[in-house]
Amino acid sequence: MTDLIPELRAPSAPAGTGRVKSGMAVSRIDGRAKVTGEAQYAAEYFAPDLAYGVVVSGTVAKGRITSIDTAEALAVAGVLSVMTHENRPKMRSFDLAWKDMTAPAGSPFRPLFSDEIFYSGQPVALVLAETFESARYAATLVRVHYDVDAHETNLLESLDQAYEPRKMKAGFVPPSSIGDGKKAFEAAEVRVDSQYYNGVEHHNPMEMFASTVIRAENGHLTIYDKTQSSQNSRWYVSHGFGLSSDEVTVRNPYVGGAFGSGLRPQYQLPLAVMGALQLERSVRVVLTRQQMFSFGHRPETWHRIRLGAAPDGTLKAIWHEAIQETSRLEDYVEVIVNWSGQLYACSDIKLGYQVVANDRFTPLDMRAPGAAHGVHAMEVAMDELAYELKMDPLALRLKNYTDVSPIEDKPFSSKELRECYRQGAERFGWEKRPLEPRSMQDGDELVGWGMATGIWDAMVMVARVSAVLHSNGRLVVSSAATDIGTGTYTVMSMIAAEAMGLPMELVTFQLGDSTLPMAPIEGGSSHVTTVGSGVFGACEKLKKSVLKMATKMTDSPLAKARLRDVEFGDGAIFLKTDPSRRVELTQVLANAGVDQVEEKYFMTPQMLKQRKYARAVHSAVFCEVRVNEKLGMVRVTRVVSAIAAGRIISAKTAASQISGAVVWGISQALHEETHTDHKYGRFMNHNFAEYHVAANADIHDIDVIFVEEDDRIVSKQLGAKGVGEIGIVGVAAAVSNAIFHATGTRLRTTPMTPAKLL
Ligand code: MOS
Repeated sequence: MTDLIPELRAPSAPAGTGRVKSGMAVSRIDGRAKVTGEAQYAAEYFAPDLAYGVVVSGTVAKGRITSIDTAEALAVAGVLSVMTHENRPKMRSFDLAWKDMTAPAGSPFRPLFSDEIFYSGQPVALVLAETFESARYAATLVRVHYDVDAHETNLLESLDQAYEPRKMKAGFVPPSSIGDGKKAFEAAEVRVDSQYYNGVEHHNPMEMFASTVIRAENGHLTIYDKTQSSQNSRWYVSHGFGLSSDEVTVRNPYVGGAFGSGLRPQYQLPLAVMGALQLERSVRVVLTRQQMFSFGHRPETWHRIRLGAAPDGTLKAIWHEAIQETSRLEDYVEVIVNWSGQLYACSDIKLGYQVVANDRFTPLDMRAPGAAHGVHAMEVAMDELAYELKMDPLALRLKNYTDVSPIEDKPFSSKELRECYRQGAERFGWEKRPLEPRSMQDGDELVGWGMATGIWDAMVMVARVSAVLHSNGRLVVSSAATDIGTGTYTVMSMIAAEAMGLPMELVTFQLGDSTLPMAPIEGGSSHVTTVGSGVFGACEKLKKSVLKMATKMTDSPLAKARLRDVEFGDGAIFLKTDPSRRVELTQVLANAGVDQVEEKYFMTPQMLKQRKYARAVHSAVFCEVRVNEKLGMVRVTRVVSAIAAGRIISAKTAASQISGAVVWGISQALHEETHTDHKYGRFMNHNFAEYHVAANADIHDIDVIFVEEDDRIVSKQLGAKGVGEIGIVGVAAAVSNAIFHATGTRLRTTPMTPAKLL
């Protein structure tokens, strides 16, 4: 039986919420806990024997540690140990032991593994002390000496060293080509040939990366970790240190944002475990904001795009090449150029993707990895083509509309993008847009309107879900899923409540514990299609078994009834044809003399059906900018984002996902970039003062539209396709295109800072 784990404090809807249906706008049920401080995060768990670890960060980008002087640090009152590669506990040495579930090909980084330095900011020691203050002070006294080697961190100066990724990550689809893109481009009457560049970005979730390892008398470790998957962290710790799965439990019931940074376990986790193993105590390690710039980032990317068209706007050639950084340790890959072969009808498409290894940490998936940069470049190129053709940018997209993915040569399982264009344009007022740049002005500001298309995968993975109906009428549904702020608690509870016909407050969905039924990492906007479908499936099974029990009751009013004859509502089962013939769920369990009934469901995608289709979510983004040319200042004053993502289950959290993602897009467009001082191979602006993210004053009107779609290929159970990452895709391009419309200046790099407009 999967029981409620009290420590997880899974939230439920407030009393009085009542019946819910998919598509309704329900406020998030974890909201209150999160804003009142009741929700506990990884760094907020405590144990009486807790020791505090503070990480010492390395200062060179490449080389070897020759010596570490720890005497001064060890002399500080309260310091228990200074752990380095020389005195750390045993860890497994082979690469495979350190590959987490999302690791790319190569040799994963392991903290304190050896004297070798791979990047600036690499953890080189962990100071463990009775108090955080002692550990922090002592960390400043650790002296590290290095043999320094020459490093390379400049992508744009190393493009000639680009290579095809040596090995592919499982599940990664390398780009393919169709027809002859080069020949078709050269023969095309109208052509665009441009280069684009996107700088490094960092995730910067509000919650710091932290791991609190609570060690029990018998050595069992309960780890509260900041991660997008408790089971991924559990697997990583078990394999890396040779601990069995019942010696380690990982929990993450609340996560304060992650955006992809928690897809892989970060180095504070193995460090905290090492501390606990060495001291045989509980240990907490929390990274500083600066240190959160030292474990993976959205990679710097260069693109060249060539588009060819007939004078009427028909696309004749699409040729998109990208070169992106990776580390020397691993070949990080992301889907950057493939989207350019899925967006528009075209018979000659050439796609190329290469990486350059440098001496920074391995890049890491960040919200809509690949698409955020790839579609930015492609959709700016489409805008450039529209001006070459003297054609409205939306008309150009409609001219090349396709219901088939050209590169895959398969129809989309569903694609209401045309409706996104229509509803988005109408809401925005696009038809009033003058074609010529610099035609609109308001006071000191030039006004411009731009648009772009967005696309993202409609992914489904596998999951196990348990649903337990208790004799008191409460339903507990469990899966080791994660809620990184996306609304998982809310949407899963809604699905279960609707399926069982229970008032939502009688349902608890518990997640965030590695011992719960298997769930995938929360990533790729796939939790609803995967875990949500599992919740639906488990409830369907539960309904069947409860009905069976009900039919067997003496003088049952439901005798001989089958599932299709009855309805589950308000905690009862009743005949559709005669609602007066009913049995309370509690009555069914009481009559059978059981405390609870459990059903488990194993959710797998419909592979055979899915294979015949291309599967994606789509969007149309319209935006208005106001540009003060004297100051180079850009304000994004209006965004309309129209989304086609299958059935929307939880209207409010889904809309919040999209408006939040649009904020990210504006931030990517105008603010976010981590600069490297190549002399030192180090990120310079590793703090919120200098790494700019959009603040309230940068955000104006954001309007989200969900167009109607129902996709039973992607999700047989729910018709959903998943929503979240699609919201950022295309936003930076729409902003860039609006800036061109306002000013006539074409910006092909992000972020579009004032200096680029002056
Ligand atoms: Mo998302 S980058 O799959 O967390």
